[in-house]
Amino acid sequence: MSDTPANYDRFERMKAIRDELLTFKESPLYEYRTQNHYFPVIGEGSHHAHIMFIGEAPGENEAKQGRPFCGAAGRILDELLTSIGLQRKDVYITNIVKDRPPENRDPTPEEIALYAPFLDRQIKIIQPKAIATLGRFSTAYVMDRMGIGDKVTQISAMHGHCYIAQTDWGEINIVPLYHPAVALYNGSMRETLKEDFQVIQLHSWL
Ligand code: URA
Repeated sequence: MSDTPANYDRFERMKAIRDELLTFKESPLYEYRTQNHYFPVIGEGSHHAHIMFIGEAPGENEAKQGRPFCGAAGRILDELLTSIGLQRKDVYITNIVKDRPPENRDPTPEEIALYAPFLDRQIKIIQPKAIATLGRFSTAYVMDRMGIGDKVTQISAMHGHCYIAQTDWGEINIVPLYHPAVALYNGSMRETLKEDFQVIQLHSWL
């Protein structure tokens, strides 16, 4: 990815993204958001984080509160972060799609294409050393965007592995993970996610 030097700070650049998303009428999800008094979910955490976690799209709780991963899947994510000694404030958490798709359906390719430039800008602002992708949509998007789309296969084969890509700010490590929601009703997935989080802890990105 090429980086545009900006002469205003990370907070201001992130705020500009929020302001644009608030009035993002080009999105087919905009009307659904406003009708339901939902918020766009920009992201949460440190703008200087060494690691970003990128999910899919907000669910109902997230859209109501304007915060990523604050529902049931978020409780699992919190537990996984705690298991490796991290708190939300140590990382940056966001999604590809910033508005809730109706009925929690999967985001469409058009929605991903529409919202992805905002995610690209967030990645450039934070310049993380590692990105943990949560689920197949963010894994496929981020790896493709980072120029290693040829390595994308099933999430069942990629989870917990570390893929290296080059950016303007140096090498970046992409760690695909299962989406935490898969662990809600499946104890063995919870264990797999815990083991995969150990991979994050093992590296010196933090
Ligand atoms: N699932 C996601 O992918 N993102 C959220 O913010 C919440 C649930």
